[in-house]
Amino acid sequence: MERLDKILANTGRWSRKEARAVVRAGRVAVDGRTACTPEEKYREDAVFTVDGETVSGLRLVYLMLHKPGGLLCATEDPRQPTVLALLPEHLRRVGLFPVGRLDKDTEGLLLLTNDGPLAHRLLSPRRHVDKRYLVRADGPFTAGDEAAFAAGMALGDGLRCLPARLERLEQAEEALVTLQEGKYHQIKRMTAACGKRVVYLKRLSMGPLALDPALKPGEWRYLTVEERARLEAQ
Ligand code: URA
Repeated sequence: MERLDKILANTGRWSRKEARAVVRAGRVAVDGRTACTPEEKYREDAVFTVDGETVSGLRLVYLMLHKPGGLLCATEDPRQPTVLALLPEHLRRVGLFPVGRLDKDTEGLLLLTNDGPLAHRLLSPRRHVDKRYLVRADGPFTAGDEAAFAAGMALGDGLRCLPARLERLEQAEEALVTLQEGKYHQIKRMTAACGKRVVYLKRLSMGPLALDPALKPGEWRYLTVEERARLEAQ
């Protein structure tokens, strides 16, 4: 947490004195709310605007969203609502994008950021960042399915998957699946190759980042400093 006048002055656009005057004039908003005094303290990844314009050269923003089913994982679409519709107006203007895609009907952890290099690292096929999912199918998972996932499947279209982990759960139709990659419809296709259809899919974690159980579908929060540090260390 940092004082507002210091945060603004850190951009190099205003001196501390000027920054105090800008705040007192009611020209500064933080996360969409007008700030009243320069002494107020904020997290540095909040979104700061002066006269309605996002202060540039500033904040990289990192959010975790509990994606509900029914929304597209994209920044815009001419016909359908995207996950950005769940964010307040001021956060829709800072260049956030989802890190990796979830299908429209998939729920769970989605990282949103405007930090391109971090997203690139997390998605790079060479890094093998683990992604963990809860899967429910229309039939029971078997020891044979576990072995097939572990062996690295060849899908019908010839695509070869890296070895993945399938852990069967007490409820025989459910499993935890950990992928090291993120190919199109990958879990649905691997499950289909085992003769079953996915009826529910939820992402639980991505690398060191786990879905906060306090977030209900459709809710989001900023990443904590520790969460960001763990992602940076990936
Ligand atoms: N695998 C899928 O089939 N769909 C997803 O959304 C994620 C992984």
